[in-house]
Amino acid sequence: MNIDIESKLLLVDDLPENLLALEALIRAPGRTAYRAGSAEAALALLLEHEFALAIVDVQMPGMNGFELAELMRGTERTRHIPIIFVSAAGRELNYAFQGYESGAVDFLHKPLDPHAVVSKVNVFVDLYQHRKALRHEMDLLAAAHKKQEELVQQLQQTQHDLERAVRMRDDFMSMVSHELRTPLNTLYLEAQLRQLHLSKGNLASFSPERLPAMIERDQRQIRNMVRLIDDMLDVTRLRRDALSIKPQPTDLSALAKAVVENLRQQAEAAGTVVTLSAPAELRGAWDEFRIEQVLTNLLTNAMRYGGGKPVEMLVQQSGDTARVSVRDQGIGIAPEDQARIFEQFERTDDSRKHAAGLGLGLFITRKIVDLHGGRIDVESAPGEGSRFTVELPLQVPAVLANPSDTQPDGKKSSQ
Ligand SMILES: Nc1ncnc2c1ncn2[C@@H]1O[C@H](COP(=O)(O)OP(=O)(O)OP(=O)(O)O)[C@@H](O)[C@H]1O
Ligand SMILES: [Mg+2]
Repeated sequence: MNIDIESKLLLVDDLPENLLALEALIRAPGRTAYRAGSAEAALALLLEHEFALAIVDVQMPGMNGFELAELMRGTERTRHIPIIFVSAAGRELNYAFQGYESGAVDFLHKPLDPHAVVSKVNVFVDLYQHRKALRHEMDLLAAAHKKQEELVQQLQQTQHDLERAVRMRDDFMSMVSHELRTPLNTLYLEAQLRQLHLSKGNLASFSPERLPAMIERDQRQIRNMVRLIDDMLDVTRLRRDALSIKPQPTDLSALAKAVVENLRQQAEAAGTVVTLSAPAELRGAWDEFRIEQVLTNLLTNAMRYGGGKPVEMLVQQSGDTARVSVRDQGIGIAPEDQARIFEQFERTDDSRKHAAGLGLGLFITRKIVDLHGGRIDVESAPGEGSRFTVELPLQVPAVLANPSDTQPDGKKSSQ
């Protein structure tokens, strides 16, 4: 592996013939020699290249070898380059240049002994190559370590997401089971009771006065179950991006009136007074069935979480936009919850204490509003009620309007 690392050697001598002789001695594969005829020329090369070793003549006109070494020691980029001084003077000079990094200085004496030159240069070049290889390995290790840490972090995040998804699924399943069981139980008990009446010949229980209320009770339970199943189907479609809308001329005022009317009984049961303020008509092109779903979801929430206090629905037109707001005076929503309640299964802790719910209504609502090119916002403070506002362009933007009558799953969009 060392052979792959190129070693650059700097030769500094004022006599060209010395430089040539030295170069011939140290030549070897994987080595490149750079010749400098003066300390100044050497400095220029030092700025440009990373050297494994500098062989420096001590006696040079102008800046001498030791002065050059001083300058090298003072610069971060060059302070680690080992130096072999070449000197014609006596051996007493050997320790004249102390303080330079220990082990990184050596001496050769003129006339040069070829063996000594080759072996000293080999030692330094080997050292350089080992150091380079080691640094390379360490860089690789550090990169691998970093990558590993990133992977561990990703894994932890995935595990966290999975655990959360599993928890949400479990909560969801138990909630759905509970929500389906309640109306089913009621229906089952009613059926048993009717069977008992029949077997005892007690036909008075099925008198014309009693029958309408009986049917109404059944229908209410069935409606609850159908709504729940519809919500789950919508979520599945939304996940597959298979929920589409079919805009048609619609009067939003009339739709709002119908929704308030449909929920009147539910409002009375909750002790909530619902008021609607709307222009005589507000015409636009929307998917009527889906917008009805939006208004129903918002109004149901306002009644559920409105603490029995009055709820107002306001329908307005402003320019090319229709606006519907639903205001309650109930438990409210903390600022940190106001974004996440539009995600599936997300509910506030406070609301769980007040009413059962799957946390799907607002998720579906926002998607429907998005599909119409509109927006939904909430203003709320805990204990001070909430106002949900939906804005819909009078016409669904062309890029969003789906001309096809059917959805990819073959169902009509509004069924
Ligand atoms: N008017 C409101 N006042 C206070 N909190 C609200 C209101 N509307 C929504 N929330 C909070 O947002 C959550 C999500 O609402 P969303 O309608 O999506 O679900 P849900 O009402 O719990 O169940 P469902 O799927 O039956 O609609 C609610 O559980 C509640 O915590
Ligand atoms: Mg809801």
